[in-house]
Amino acid sequence: MLNGKNILIGITGGIAAYKICELIRKFKKNGANVRVVATPNALNFVTKLTLQNLSQNEVYVEEFNVKDWRPEHISFADEADIMLIAPATANTISKIATGVADNLLTSIACAFNKKMIIAPAMNCNMWNNPVVQENISKLRSLGVEFLEPESGFLACGYIGKGRLCSIDKIYSSVVEALNYSKKLEGKKVVVTSGGTIEDIDPVRYISNYSSGKMGFAIANAAKNMGAEVVLITTKNFEAPYKIVKVKSAIDMQNAIDKEFETSDYIIMAAAVADYRVKNYSQQKMKKTNDDNLVLELVKNPDILKGLCDKKTHQIIVGFCAESENLLNNAKEKIAKKGCDYLVANDISRADIGFSSDDNEVSILDKSGKIVKLDKAPKKVIARQILEYINE
Ligand code: CTP
Repeated sequence: MLNGKNILIGITGGIAAYKICELIRKFKKNGANVRVVATPNALNFVTKLTLQNLSQNEVYVEEFNVKDWRPEHISFADEADIMLIAPATANTISKIATGVADNLLTSIACAFNKKMIIAPAMNCNMWNNPVVQENISKLRSLGVEFLEPESGFLACGYIGKGRLCSIDKIYSSVVEALNYSKKLEGKKVVVTSGGTIEDIDPVRYISNYSSGKMGFAIANAAKNMGAEVVLITTKNFEAPYKIVKVKSAIDMQNAIDKEFETSDYIIMAAAVADYRVKNYSQQKMKKTNDDNLVLELVKNPDILKGLCDKKTHQIIVGFCAESENLLNNAKEKIAKKGCDYLVANDISRADIGFSSDDNEVSILDKSGKIVKLDKAPKKVIARQILEYINE
């Protein structure tokens, strides 16, 4: 699966460094070329000899150990298809976020302009430190993928979030990242995500449980496939592309309209409220003596249908969340809306859909063809959807 791929692994000084030995073996067994760069502190936890034997390559630590005419931090950055830093300490993450290049690993990171994945591991208080979180946000907004640490018993004796995520998760994330085709180069992809928020008064609103994760995963996958991406969302995300934050269905429609003509793909993963309150109350509504309260609602525009009615060259993908009769409802919906594809998911299952990190969907096209994608992390499903609609 990884034949001919060049993986650069940066190891920093955390107890989880020993776990990376198994990961290197897995990469090697699957055909990758692995180059390891360790910080001086990493070698307190794992030996150079072990890393050298497993990677079948010399392991580099110091910066001024030049054997070739090209400085190592530049040649290593150039030859790698992906850079993985695992475990990444708060120190190394913060240095990379601020452009500090004071050892070989951080110098390579500074010169690296391809896909970077960071798997942090640290004490939970360090993880929760706002400075560390701000540095992570900054790197995320620049396109670095973070594999969040897990909660549990930490080597420092604390119980909390900070443990390196599983080796399987790191492995599959690297494989996934190396799998992207560049099919969307030169294309503009507009994605919507999250549930719209329809205000009742200044303190209350109507909304739904959509987390926005599926749309965010699609926007990320489109970016990885080379597209210019615009994410129109009701949630807070950080990413290296244009994000337009909206609230209501009307806001969302206005934001899409601004991007519509120049876009090639529109992917409506948002859960748009079908109705909004007819009379928004400027002041907080007061409780009355009445036991019942009737709110009058009016229909929101059907954004997806409106786009399909006026489309010229765009490929338009709708989503449908159903709690029963998934495929029958989906078939009716694709005909009613007129979109090119409809991605259907079953929200009655707790292990997929809304807040979950996994999903399992069926993709319908206009001709009636249905393709089922097996349960997988949302980022895998996202790539598969984009690959499928580009076949
Ligand atoms: N959608 C939209 N505008 C709306 C409602 C839905 O653009 N006012 C879009 C959603 O973003 C999604 C698709 O339509 O891509 C299907 O949404 P869904 O809520 O399943 O369909 P509805 O048309 O609202 O039908 P119903 O709620 O009756 O199942």
